[in-house]
Amino acid sequence: MQSNTAAFLMLTFWLAMAPALSAQTGEVNSCVSCHLEEGEELAVPVEGMRNDVHAQNGLSCADCHGGDPKAGLDGDMDAAMDPDKGYIGVPSRKDIPTFCARCHSNTAYMRKFNPRVASNQLERYKTSIHGKRLINGDEKVATCVDCHGVHGIRASNDALSLIYPTNVPSTCGRCHADAEYMADYDIPINQLTSYTKSVHGVALLDRGDLGAPACNDCHGNHGAAPPGAPSIAFICGQCHLNNSELFFKSPHRVAYEENDFPECETCHDYHDIQHPSDEMLGVGENSICIECHEEDSKGYATAIAMRNQIEFLKSKMSTADSLVALAERAGMEVSDALYQLNDADDALVKARTQIHSLDLDNIVNVTNEGVTLADAALLAGTNALSEVQFRRKGLAVSLVFLLILAVGLYLKIKEIDIKHPLR
Ligand code: HEC
Ligand code: HEC
Ligand code: HEC
Ligand code: HEC
Ligand code: HEC
Ligand code: HEC
Ligand code: HEC
Ligand code: HEC
Ligand code: HEC
Repeated sequence: MQSNTAAFLMLTFWLAMAPALSAQTGEVNSCVSCHLEEGEELAVPVEGMRNDVHAQNGLSCADCHGGDPKAGLDGDMDAAMDPDKGYIGVPSRKDIPTFCARCHSNTAYMRKFNPRVASNQLERYKTSIHGKRLINGDEKVATCVDCHGVHGIRASNDALSLIYPTNVPSTCGRCHADAEYMADYDIPINQLTSYTKSVHGVALLDRGDLGAPACNDCHGNHGAAPPGAPSIAFICGQCHLNNSELFFKSPHRVAYEENDFPECETCHDYHDIQHPSDEMLGVGENSICIECHEEDSKGYATAIAMRNQIEFLKSKMSTADSLVALAERAGMEVSDALYQLNDADDALVKARTQIHSLDLDNIVNVTNEGVTLADAALLAGTNALSEVQFRRKGLAVSLVFLLILAVGLYLKIKEIDIKHPLR
């Protein structure tokens, strides 16, 4: 009974699938029909192909596995799965990259389907740690099907694909966060957990901000390797252009290269990147500068001076801010001062970026701009408040005046009452 229902469902499914799977030829496909009839494991690939990008492009079983989809309709599987007709069967794990690349490295072939699709995946893959280890017989590394799936491969812009940005971390994490799977290797397994807690992970996974990097934005789609120390600033610089340009012009660039310090990572970490704070700057408890710069060095002095500039601007802004807020609550028109404070805040943000230049003059210039704006806002706030005071004083004077007038009137009325008592 149950298997009858299953068979019925399969048949319905097949009727729905058949046109899609043999869209190009318009003919019945023996691979599909027999595998559905066989059911169970042999039918799984057919079901998987329902949403497969290859099926959507008119490709089917035989395009990947070879064989003759027109033969075997009579039940003769050997006629369909015939090596003489190009039947390859199931590729061994180490052969998967070349199996897929038969088409994907063939630019002319691929262009017929999609003029823009790249055809360098195998070439890039061979440069990755995955690719290099696979060639040397390590079958636990990622091959094409570990990242893309098989029988159900979706286009990269499909939100359900394994490599859609929000799905990439768990796709990589399936191996990299699995302690047992990675036990044979000498690398950490905390990438996924660190990344998930980082500014980038929170932005991408919690807020769906596709501008934040997933694993492949830093490691490449197919060339996965740990980026060497002197190329990290380029990776981060894809998105943080100002920071990397300032860093490149700073004395740290050469010094870091000579010492093999990993650029941005030295101060920000890499998977566990957090919102930076002003405390990282200077020589206080949480300063990163004092990790390398000793007292009496130029770096040490510059760290103090830069932090002082930032703190000075912040204190100016905070005083101006509270005065302007007071004036606003008293009902005064302070929009100009609010704009100035906003611009001062932009200057503060800029100053934090300029830190990467290590050039104190740059930072002084930017913070001075901010201080001028904060001072102007402070002045506007002070003026607005004295205006409030002035109006209050004016009100008090007029109240006293009105009171005197009222008393005078009262006395006058009394006087009239006495002179002309009511009869
Ligand atoms: C008449 C039935 C029938 C037809 C037609 C048929 N198959 Fe199969 N196929 C089977 C059966 C049964 C198996 C499992 C037994 C085996 O591997 O010999 C199988 C296994 C496979 C496997 C797995 C082989 C392995 O080594 O595990 C692949 C791949 C496959 N078929 C692809 C195809 C393709 C491609 C076509 C069409 C060109 C096709 N089949 C047509 C019945 C069929
Ligand atoms: C885009 C290429 C591609 C297409 C299209 C494709 N396959 Fe496969 N198939 C593979 C690869 C690669 C493997 C090996 C997967 C692995 O080792 O993890 C595989 C494995 C198999 C297996 C072995 C068991 C399994 O599920 O892994 C069978 C059976 C099979 N395919 C049948 C089919 C049938 C039937 C179709 C058509 C409905 C089909 N395949 C379409 C690439 C393809
Ligand atoms: C380590 C995971 C991983 C492996 C292994 C992998 N890919 Fe990819 N692949 C990706 C990611 C990530 C993308 C890009 C997604 C995006 O653009 O957002 C991608 C994109 C693609 C694309 C779309 C075009 C492009 O290049 O952007 C194709 C086609 C593709 N891969 C084929 C392959 C083939 C063929 C193999 C094996 C030789 C392979 N991939 C191996 C992760 C992988
Ligand atoms: C018979 C040729 C052929 C084989 C073999 C093949 N593909 Fe494809 N693949 C295509 C074509 C054609 C497209 C559609 C082009 C497009 O839309 O970009 C495609 C599309 C894709 C895409 C979506 C690309 C995008 O636009 O995002 C991925 C991912 C992909 N294939 C991965 C694989 C993997 C992994 C394998 C091996 C298991 C494989 N392909 C084997 C021909 C093939
Ligand atoms: C099928 C499991 C698997 C998947 C999925 C996978 N990897 Fe790997 N990866 C490995 C194994 C195994 C190694 C080899 C470990 C080593 O290098 O010591 C490796 C190595 C690496 C390395 C080199 C590490 C080093 O320092 O040697 C990087 C970087 C890497 N993977 C990134 C990624 C990224 C990014 C993704 C997702 C887009 C991914 N991997 C998906 C299994 C996987
Ligand atoms: C913001 C960029 C960035 C992102 C996002 C990122 N990585 Fe990395 N990853 C790096 C850098 C930089 C290194 C090199 C660290 C070093 O060697 O100094 C690295 C190293 C690695 C390594 C080598 C072992 C290790 O931990 O040092 C693996 C494996 C790895 N990353 C996997 C991943 C995976 C999986 C993800 C997603 C969950 C990911 N990475 C996300 C930048 C990034
Ligand atoms: C694909 C683009 C991209 C790449 C590559 C990238 N980032 Fe980011 N980064 C972002 C985005 C977007 C945000 C903002 C996240 C948010 O809104 O919280 C961000 C936030 C940050 C922050 C926090 C800024 C703040 O004001 O709190 C730091 C620090 C940072 N990234 C450093 C790095 C470093 C270091 C690298 C290289 C290892 C890197 N990023 C690579 C896009 C990127
Ligand atoms: C010498 C240590 C150091 C290095 C190297 C470094 N940073 Fe920073 N970075 C800082 C400090 C300190 C702050 C925080 C300043 C503050 O908040 O007062 C910061 C702040 C940031 C911010 C947030 C402020 C902003 O500009 O939006 C980003 C983003 C950032 N860094 C990215 C990078 C990138 C990308 C690199 C590599 C090109 C890099 N950093 C290299 C120390 C460093
Ligand atoms: C990982 C070590 C390291 C860290 C962390 C670090 N520096 Fe440096 N810095 C160096 C090295 C090495 C040099 C070049 C040798 C020297 O002048 O001390 C240098 C040079 C400088 C210079 C130029 C000095 C000169 O003589 O022209 C300044 C300024 C500077 N660093 C400021 C900072 C500030 C500010 C911080 C904290 C945000 C910081 N550094 C964090 C290692 C570091």
